[in-house]
Amino acid sequence: MQDQLIIFDTTLRDGEQSPGAAMTKDEKIRIARQLERLGVDVIEAGFAAASPGDAEAIKAIAQVVRGSTVCSLARATEKDIRAAGEAIGPAKSGRIHTFIATSPIHMEKKLRMAPDEVVERAVAAVRMAREFTDDVEFSAEDAVRSEVDFLVRVFDAVIQAGARTINVPDTVGYSIPVLWGERFKELIARVPNSDKVVWSTHCHNDLGMASANSLAAVMNGARQVECTINGLGERAGNASLEEIVMAVKTRRDVFACDSRIDTTQIVPTSKLVSSITGYPVQPNKAIVGANAFAHESGIHQDGVLKHRETYEIMRAEDVGWTTNKLSLGKLSGRSAFRTRLTELGIVLDGEEALNAAFARFKELADKKREIFDEDIQALVSDEAVADACDRFKLVSMKVCSETGETPQAYVVLSDGGQEIRADEVGGGPVDASFRAIEKMVGSGSSLLLYSVNNITTGTDAQGEVTVRLARNGRVVNGQGADTDIVVASVKSYLNALNKLYGAEERAHPQV
Ligand code: KIV
Ligand code: ZN
Repeated sequence: MQDQLIIFDTTLRDGEQSPGAAMTKDEKIRIARQLERLGVDVIEAGFAAASPGDAEAIKAIAQVVRGSTVCSLARATEKDIRAAGEAIGPAKSGRIHTFIATSPIHMEKKLRMAPDEVVERAVAAVRMAREFTDDVEFSAEDAVRSEVDFLVRVFDAVIQAGARTINVPDTVGYSIPVLWGERFKELIARVPNSDKVVWSTHCHNDLGMASANSLAAVMNGARQVECTINGLGERAGNASLEEIVMAVKTRRDVFACDSRIDTTQIVPTSKLVSSITGYPVQPNKAIVGANAFAHESGIHQDGVLKHRETYEIMRAEDVGWTTNKLSLGKLSGRSAFRTRLTELGIVLDGEEALNAAFARFKELADKKREIFDEDIQALVSDEAVADACDRFKLVSMKVCSETGETPQAYVVLSDGGQEIRADEVGGGPVDASFRAIEKMVGSGSSLLLYSVNNITTGTDAQGEVTVRLARNGRVVNGQGADTDIVVASVKSYLNALNKLYGAEERAHPQV
């Protein structure tokens, strides 16, 4: 009998702390449903005390997700724990994850608290969290730079107070595998009643070792790994879920545990998270990168054709890589469209949303002969984006691009229902369109990133554009998809502007 490795996904919390990765409630629900399909054990759905909107999103996820535990993060304060407890209220299985920093540098410079006070606060937080749920997790933030004797003291105290999961984070991505493994071994050996709790690891990737460190912890007794899809997360990101899951599955000879993840859902989940957050996946990323299973060199190809295992340790289809699946065509009707949405796990909010998505599908089918699953995902994302455009909407646009001439754009927008229009010139049609929009809106924002990815192959493929804007320290990502990349760019720019104008103030849990 192998132990179960609990997969705790924090894409919606730590992942969302990446610059511009803030998601709307609907986007979070879509990702949470997909994480449930993937078979994630615990979904950290957010940090409820960040804002009323964050609390509402966690609550909505707790209402719809039935197959995974839904968790909210909370600092070790009464206000945070109450917000988390209320947000996870509707969950079939709900967890509160409370934390406080335990390293000398964090206690002195950030918390300005004495170690005794930190222990007291940790115990009080766990006791209070237990009033809302039996499933309470405690984290010692910056455990990597904490003194082991102090960690033993804190963990002993919180276990007595009722914590069921003890999470040991490498908050700053400082450890290396051999040391991280030793740390788990020592803690599990020294903390009283360590066999009564689940030991968890949470690693950041600042030195590129988040997955390796997490796996070293697993080899030394950790039975929960906190990770994110595509390794999304603060700074260099978190340990990536797909790497952890496939490492324990592929190297069963080494790991005494396995997860209950449906690995065929890994690539669809990766694509969904990438398209919603606007964080592209690097082509050579393990498991989910476009080249992860591509054999370029002649020698490799020959080897793979003769006998797959000469160069492949995993099968592409086992992690959900399929050749672009032809989904629907121009003649497909509404009920075929509805069925395909269900098969893809996409739930639309009522008949009106279905009708709007179907109309967009028909429009797309007129421009593009073959519609793939990826097109449908993008179309639904785009529909959700368009819904969220509560202030600026694209009414129409015209661009002119000719060799030897200065590109020009004429854009008509709806600003809260009122039509506004402007024309501008620029270095190219996208630049001219953005300038025309800025002329009308006057946002004063700066463009940090502009990227285009094709959703499927072929010149008639939809382009998916990400625009990252910054203003007064706030960073947002916008997305847009269209077969015309200038239109996709404008949609993406407007989506970013709407986020910039619409988003509420949110607190960061670790600052
Ligand atoms: O990195 C970290 O320490 C965290 C904690 C809040 C668990 O994300
Ligand atoms: Zn973290």
